[in-house]
Amino acid sequence: MACGPMFLCFTGRDRKEKRKQPGWRIFSLNELHAATNNFNYDNKLGEGGFGSVYWGQLRDGSQIAVKRLKVWSNKAEMEFAVEVEILGRVRHKNLLSLRGYCAEGQERLIVYDYMPNLSLLSHLHGQHSAESHLDWSRRMKIAIGSAEGIVYLHHHATPHIIHRDIKASNVLLNTNFEAQVADFGFAKLIPEGATHVTTRVKGTLGYLAPEYAMLGKASESCDVYSFGILLLELVSGKKPIEKVSATMKRTISDWALPLACQKKFDELADPRLNGEYVEEELRRLVLVALVCADNEPAKRPTMLEVVDLLKGVSNEKLAELESCEMFKTPQVGEYTDGSGADSSDSISEEREIKQELS
Ligand SMILES: Nc1ncnc2c1ncn2[C@@H]1O[C@H](COP(=O)(O)OP(=O)(O)OP(=O)(O)O)[C@@H](O)[C@H]1O
Ligand SMILES: [Mg+2]
Repeated sequence: MACGPMFLCFTGRDRKEKRKQPGWRIFSLNELHAATNNFNYDNKLGEGGFGSVYWGQLRDGSQIAVKRLKVWSNKAEMEFAVEVEILGRVRHKNLLSLRGYCAEGQERLIVYDYMPNLSLLSHLHGQHSAESHLDWSRRMKIAIGSAEGIVYLHHHATPHIIHRDIKASNVLLNTNFEAQVADFGFAKLIPEGATHVTTRVKGTLGYLAPEYAMLGKASESCDVYSFGILLLELVSGKKPIEKVSATMKRTISDWALPLACQKKFDELADPRLNGEYVEEELRRLVLVALVCADNEPAKRPTMLEVVDLLKGVSNEKLAELESCEMFKTPQVGEYTDGSGADSSDSISEEREIKQELS
């Protein structure tokens, strides 16, 4: 989050939205035990840096996802409640809102609406990847919707929020396959001792802006970089980092940039689309993605600009981008890392990231 709870203030718009929305509440541990069949293994939806996520059903019949924190330190006690309350007030159609939280004894749990179509990751590379639910129009809507969710975090939430972990598993899909960005602002809540984060740099390999990975400098433009990687993944169905041989790995932008320079946009499309996409939109997504993933933060657009570019309302700006230097000098990049880390791996040490990117 960009600033601390002391600076928390609400605009007229926030107040209005708060009145409209049912908002969040505090859950008792008993209620969450009952909802998840005592955190039964069969209810488990997945596991991330924070802990395990369980499906559950409340007494009123509504379905929830409960994230159960696995490591906790008493020191962070107050921070948890304050941060969760701030995040609980953030409401936008493309952000997964918190239904509430539970803090009893050593247990820390966060309650969300259950998203029946799970994450974008599960459709691109996971359990639903063979089913081809993501046609081109859904992909376009996911791209624009998730960008709009991030615009809200960067430009409209008070205080402004930097996500710090934009990636395919944090884009959830509701019944209509509309994007709901999850886990915003939580990176800093993950305590020391959790398996795959450092206190200085939190995020996921393949999505990290170089200046953030090297220097730990988090800013809105780091989210823009990660969003660019996410867009390339959405268009191509490829992972952010792919093994090209036993020792060589290639980032998705190193693969995509030379093809974009040669205007071979059709080669960038996910084969699962079977050629069924709108050419102009695909070109637009690829160009925007690559500009977002520029190594130099100053050259990246803001998320507000990204939304306009994706919607095709600033075609002159797009033409300008296309004529910029990066699309004239294609360079094919491959590198070894020796760590054996896969694209889905999160960080264990800051040192490790430096190795990845050097
Ligand atoms: N509200 C939800 N509805 C449905 N599935 C969910 C929900 N929240 C999380 N999940 C599922 O649970 C899995 C684990 O989520 P979690 O956020 O803990 O891990 P992650 O996104 O892989 O990593 P990170 O800890 O960096 O966010 C995700 O892959 C997602 O599919
Ligand atoms: Mg997540």
